[in-house]
Amino acid sequence: MCGIVGYIGQRDAYPIIIKGLQRLEYRGYDSAGIFLYDGETMHLSKTKGKVEDLKHKSETSIDISGKLGLGHTRWATHGIPNDINSHPHSSNSGDLVIIHNGIIENYESIKKALQERGYVFESDTDTEVLVNLIEEVKQKEQVKLGKAVQIALNQVVGAYAIAVFDRTKPDEIVVAKLGSPLAIGIGDNEYFVASDASPFIEFTNNAVYLEDEEMAIIRLGKEIKLRKIKDDAIAYPTIQELQLNIEEIEKGGYDHFMLKEIYEQPRAILDTYRGRLRVNQGIIKMAGIDQNLEKFLNANRIIIVACGTSWHAGLVAEYTFEDLARVPVEVEYASEFRYRNPVITDKDVLIAISQSGETADTLAAIKMAKEKGAFVFGVCNVVGSSIARETHAGAYTHAGPEIGVASTKAFTTQITILTMIALKLAKEKGIFSESRFHALLTELEGIPAKVEKVLESNVLIEQIAEVYKDSTNCLYLGRGYNFPVALEGALKLKEISYIHAEGYPAAEMKHGPIALIDEQMPVVVIATRKGHYEKVISNIQEIKSRHGKIIAVVTEGDEMVTELADHVIEVPETTEALTPLLTTIPLQLLSYHIALMRGCNVDQPRNLAKSVTVE
Ligand code: AGP
Repeated sequence: MCGIVGYIGQRDAYPIIIKGLQRLEYRGYDSAGIFLYDGETMHLSKTKGKVEDLKHKSETSIDISGKLGLGHTRWATHGIPNDINSHPHSSNSGDLVIIHNGIIENYESIKKALQERGYVFESDTDTEVLVNLIEEVKQKEQVKLGKAVQIALNQVVGAYAIAVFDRTKPDEIVVAKLGSPLAIGIGDNEYFVASDASPFIEFTNNAVYLEDEEMAIIRLGKEIKLRKIKDDAIAYPTIQELQLNIEEIEKGGYDHFMLKEIYEQPRAILDTYRGRLRVNQGIIKMAGIDQNLEKFLNANRIIIVACGTSWHAGLVAEYTFEDLARVPVEVEYASEFRYRNPVITDKDVLIAISQSGETADTLAAIKMAKEKGAFVFGVCNVVGSSIARETHAGAYTHAGPEIGVASTKAFTTQITILTMIALKLAKEKGIFSESRFHALLTELEGIPAKVEKVLESNVLIEQIAEVYKDSTNCLYLGRGYNFPVALEGALKLKEISYIHAEGYPAAEMKHGPIALIDEQMPVVVIATRKGHYEKVISNIQEIKSRHGKIIAVVTEGDEMVTELADHVIEVPETTEALTPLLTTIPLQLLSYHIALMRGCNVDQPRNLAKSVTVE
């Protein structure tokens, strides 16, 4: 995610845009930039770092008096965070300037074609490709900016919220939206453009939210007119009168970042497989894997190192890689691995998983493995982070910034990446028939919709939370692919509600934890119809006979567990290897509601930091 802000009107644009970017920093904060037009001259300033860094740089380097401007705060997806890759981007002629939030999936092929026609590129971004495509269309078709944007956008695949300026027509800003949010604030002879209303709510609460595949040419003194990008049809704007305050807007109307990020998971999973999962072509395209395929196929084993929730994602991957790709996997706590003098050879592949890309133990484990000759692959959520830069190759989750300390969308997007790798290796090894592979790709593609379905249980889960909010202990049980989910569910509960919780393989209960079971002990059991279903039922019966309270996560339509459990949360049917993407969601919501009812600080739990950069 990134944050975009634009302004055209009678006021100085600079303070409006800078303050607006600061309000949007929760959307991305690795680099920032601003463009201003003073009626004659264009001024551009951009920098790696935060908006504060941009402010210092701009106020000492450019004229900040213009009444029209575009600003951007970046969460890198293509191209590491640095000055050159920061937005706004200019076209080769220098006439066009663009800011963009989203991902252009087919930017490489467009870039190649433009280069063959003489276009040159400074940055590694997909956005610089888009602004030059618009320029080429404008020049070739001899059309104005609005039409050029429309024609160009019909050639791209991906997601965008853009604002474009043209020096040859400096009284307008062209905006367009698909997949990423874009709001127009309507003031008194002034217009605002932003990723959400927080940059302009203090000036006006009249807003138009563009729908997907809509665009608008914004001119002072003219009514906002929306147009469909695909077919030029006119769309009439619905002007909304907003009653939200700034904080509510930053959280997307949710009470906490954690809840917002739980609900972002369908989009985050989709953005993570976007451009990589190509069902129609029957392939998974991942540059970091494609370019190192032999290393993975010839590896003696895959060692996965991580911490916390990322370690749980690694445990899920152990099941996936061994079950589907028949690759031996070991999962290690990075903090242990780095000190136990492990045996590592150049036939080992090490996968490091880290949302922040800055976890000290994981970084140290990577460096040690590299020294011992292993090939190291990173799965991170922060482009250009230390771990991303230290590894030989990698794949980014495109979850967008995860602000809540408790990891949620990072977990499901990490599993998405790791599952795609396992599927890809399995296919390369000839383990899957074309039809089975295609069926698995199709099922993965459908997961975001199934996550949406699970999220509909939120009210039920809140009612369950009410019953158990005063518990002092809680047990989480799961088998197979869902054993790591039990660990993750327990971690979520303990780290934000401070209730002691333990995750266990369901079958392990009789080796000790069953002694804990009584009517005071809620037991969360993941009992989907896949994988050892009957055995989980006997575990549930053992709990019931000791008066334990059972909260069961089951496959929708389940009857057998439903008869036994005190509470049942249903998730849609899916392939066993993908069940963690669904069964995790109710556990995230359960911990969120219990923590809230206990008056805990959900987004910043006590004693914890979002990124553990110390040992
Ligand atoms: C999970 O909710 C915690 N915030 C924590 O365990 C976290 O997963 C761990 O610190 C690893 O962080 P990373 O993914 O950024 O490396």
